[in-house]
Amino acid sequence: MWAMIATWRMALEGVSEAGKLLQEGKSSGEAIEHAIRCVEDFPYYKSVGYGGLPNEEMVVELDAGYMDGSTMAMGAVAGIKDFANPISIAKDLSKDTVNCVLVAEGAEKYASKKGFERKTMLTDRAKIHYRKRIKLLKEEELKPYDGHDTVGEVALDSQGKIVAGTSTSGLFMKKAGRIGDSPIVGGGFYADSEVGGATATGLGEDLMKGCISYEIVRKMKEGLSPQEACQKTVNELDAKLKKSRGFAGDLSVVAIDKDGNFGCATNIKNFSFVVYRQGEEPIVYLANPVGNQTEIYPASQEWMDNYMKERIVPIEE
Ligand code: GLY
Repeated sequence: MWAMIATWRMALEGVSEAGKLLQEGKSSGEAIEHAIRCVEDFPYYKSVGYGGLPNEEMVVELDAGYMDGSTMAMGAVAGIKDFANPISIAKDLSKDTVNCVLVAEGAEKYASKKGFERKTMLTDRAKIHYRKRIKLLKEEELKPYDGHDTVGEVALDSQGKIVAGTSTSGLFMKKAGRIGDSPIVGGGFYADSEVGGATATGLGEDLMKGCISYEIVRKMKEGLSPQEACQKTVNELDAKLKKSRGFAGDLSVVAIDKDGNFGCATNIKNFSFVVYRQGEEPIVYLANPVGNQTEIYPASQEWMDNYMKERIVPIEE
């Protein structure tokens, strides 16, 4: 049995290709790397890789994480500039037992030495978004989550190995050097092949506070289904944040277990995610919080048709 789950509709094309790799008997590590690279390479996604929106100094700083749930190998890069595929660098770093998490110039030096593709990641379109936002900021306050989605994926291969990975440009207009949950093991991603894997998207500062991906896997290990584990973890963190300081940032999670069962929970409206499992077609779902539960249903054709149109619509200064 093989299976993949990923945050947001943007993962669809990559997951569809990666599922074929899993069907051919390729590993979950190869599937995750391939699927996330597809998102990183697509110029119209504003929150991952090429075309990702910059920080407040108009510099694109990228984060990525990777974990192999069979060996517990883990690698991550944070605040890396001008490399095409941070996920591949994170995966490569996971082969080491030390120096597995590198930031900024250190990560860039490593990637250069290893021959990873350099690329100017700030696009003309991202510059227009930046300049528009600067204008807007004079009129209204920036909300912490404005314009941001991380790609997080978990794959189970037919050998039973579970791998999790993430990639993001982080919050638009973040401070230089800011990192969120995505390169933090246990925060943005976690995998244990004996149990399952989970990954998160939303406000990194809040997701990290709940060690949210680790917590979901821990609950699955205690016997909860992926859906129960995702829901309980999001509810607990959401409630705790609201109790302690009056509000909770955006929290959305997906998970699969070692048998290919999946779960998703969110505290935001219209969170989309992708599931592709052996013997099925890839499916885009929409998730919405209803009371203490998450209502999950396949996206309509109309929603799917509008999605790409909205992404590629021309923008003007
Ligand atoms: N969840 C990604 C970030 O906060 O950077």
